[in-house]
Amino acid sequence: MKKIGTIGVLTSGGDAPGMNAAIRAVTRAALYSGWRVIGIYRGFEGLINNECGELTSQSVSNIIQHGGTILKTARSKEFMTKEGRRKAYQTMKTYDIDALIVIGGNGSITGAQVFAQEYDIPCIGIPGTIDNDLYGTDSTIGYDTALNTIVEAVDKIRDTASSHDRIFFVEVMGRDAGFLAQNSAIAAGAEAAIIPEEKTTIDQLGNFISRGVRKSKNSSIVIVSESKLNGGVMHYAERMRSEYPDYDVRVTILGYLQRGGRPSAFDRILASRLGVAAIEALKEGQRNVMVGIDNDEIVYVPFSRASKMDKPINQELINVLAILSI
Ligand code: F6P
Repeated sequence: MKKIGTIGVLTSGGDAPGMNAAIRAVTRAALYSGWRVIGIYRGFEGLINNECGELTSQSVSNIIQHGGTILKTARSKEFMTKEGRRKAYQTMKTYDIDALIVIGGNGSITGAQVFAQEYDIPCIGIPGTIDNDLYGTDSTIGYDTALNTIVEAVDKIRDTASSHDRIFFVEVMGRDAGFLAQNSAIAAGAEAAIIPEEKTTIDQLGNFISRGVRKSKNSSIVIVSESKLNGGVMHYAERMRSEYPDYDVRVTILGYLQRGGRPSAFDRILASRLGVAAIEALKEGQRNVMVGIDNDEIVYVPFSRASKMDKPINQELINVLAILSI
């Protein structure tokens, strides 16, 4: 295997708070090992279009506290084609990049996997997504911050919900994973969570809510994961209005504010640890693995396992919400 002298680093897919902390950690750990670092802008799109620049220790100073990503990000359609990946490989050669670090979510790890197989390049993935949907790591970078953002917003919605005796359906992100919805529902004391991993009928929902109303709880919050698999927040709100006309139903879609903001201390520490671990992994001769955290230990997860679509939600979390929302 070729000795590593230069690495490339990029962020890809939806941005997530803490990505900057990961860029900083990767850059400084690589420099510490005597390697050169090339920052690639706009994810795989920048690799295709040769949008690169050298990163120094100074270029990553004063970024750990900022949301978003200084390298920018994109969802590259062209990288899904053979021709796109050929151009990307050309850029790797132009800059003498011997190994690639990809910070991103499920789609980005899958992209890295295909590229690494096709061109025999050592690639290391770092899980960066608010969705927490990567298998093999307890948490992804950005998830904790997004969760806290949601909880803060739902606390505010609770004030108006209880003042007006209303039922609020609050839609949160997560793509096809219910981690944000389930855990924000627990943390905000919501009455129910609708997640793609579990089927919820309107009657079940009606029962959750009237259970609260019977006990003189006049307002309720239902957190709905954005997934297409469950019909969406509007579907539930409409059905609730037509089948339970006595309830005063309102909808709030939290949207992109969930992806922004200063990363939490947890996400900064996670990103710093995973950034250093990615460089350690390369030094150990690892390739085509995602670095993750399992029980507070660094683990290497093969790409094929990490991007499996079915990271399970712990049943205990579902029980906790059910028990505590009576
Ligand atoms: O993957 C992160 C995420 O924020 C998902 O929760 C959401 O479904 C998606 O990205 C939105 O993507 P886009 O930024 O392309 O609209």
